[in-house]
Amino acid sequence: MIHHIPNVLSKEQVAEFRQLMATANWVGGKVTAGTLSASVKQNQQLSENDPLTHHLSELVIQAIWKNPVFQAAALPHQIIPPLFNRYDEHESFGFHVDNSIRLIRGTSQQMRTDLSCTLFLSEPEEYDGGDLVIEDTYGYHEVKLPAGDVVLYPATSLHEVSSITRGTRFASFFWVQSLIRDDQKRHLLFNLDESIRQLRKDHDDAYPEVMKLTNIYHNLIRMWSEL
Ligand code: NI
Repeated sequence: MIHHIPNVLSKEQVAEFRQLMATANWVGGKVTAGTLSASVKQNQQLSENDPLTHHLSELVIQAIWKNPVFQAAALPHQIIPPLFNRYDEHESFGFHVDNSIRLIRGTSQQMRTDLSCTLFLSEPEEYDGGDLVIEDTYGYHEVKLPAGDVVLYPATSLHEVSSITRGTRFASFFWVQSLIRDDQKRHLLFNLDESIRQLRKDHDDAYPEVMKLTNIYHNLIRMWSEL
């Protein structure tokens, strides 16, 4: 399932990010690509060792961990520290698949990429082209969100960033290892969680079915989670 998570960063935070990124030292994006995806990747990134990457990455992690929609949709176990990219005119990242296992930078620890995330840092009117195109069983989904919003999608999907025809597109990208590996199970828990939230709005928390359904939600997580 593809989730749109609005307002992960405020417009003020986005403006701060953009100011810092304007004078940053951008390098060729092939540095973090696998051999297959390197051949279709034409963009720029902040180096993983750049102090600015660490600073901005920390701010994204803080914002994402406290976002309730992200929590409900991703059920995160681990988050790979975010990276940052830019696409100028004529740059693109053709269809590719993300690596299934990644090293957490600065450690010898590996994690499985269950979910891919893009945090948009340019407003849609700042550039033409540059859609994130995600393929799933229903076809192709073109995603271009307001700055500060996140799209979360299964890392199993083939995807591309189409060529920029005007302007510059800035974004942050990262991966999540979920407590719930299976996309369908995670989707079911998300729907159950949404229904419980709605019931809690319509009734008070002492409503017996709210308690019972919450118990089922947690017991399913106990049954399915991997730690
Ligand atoms: Ni990718």
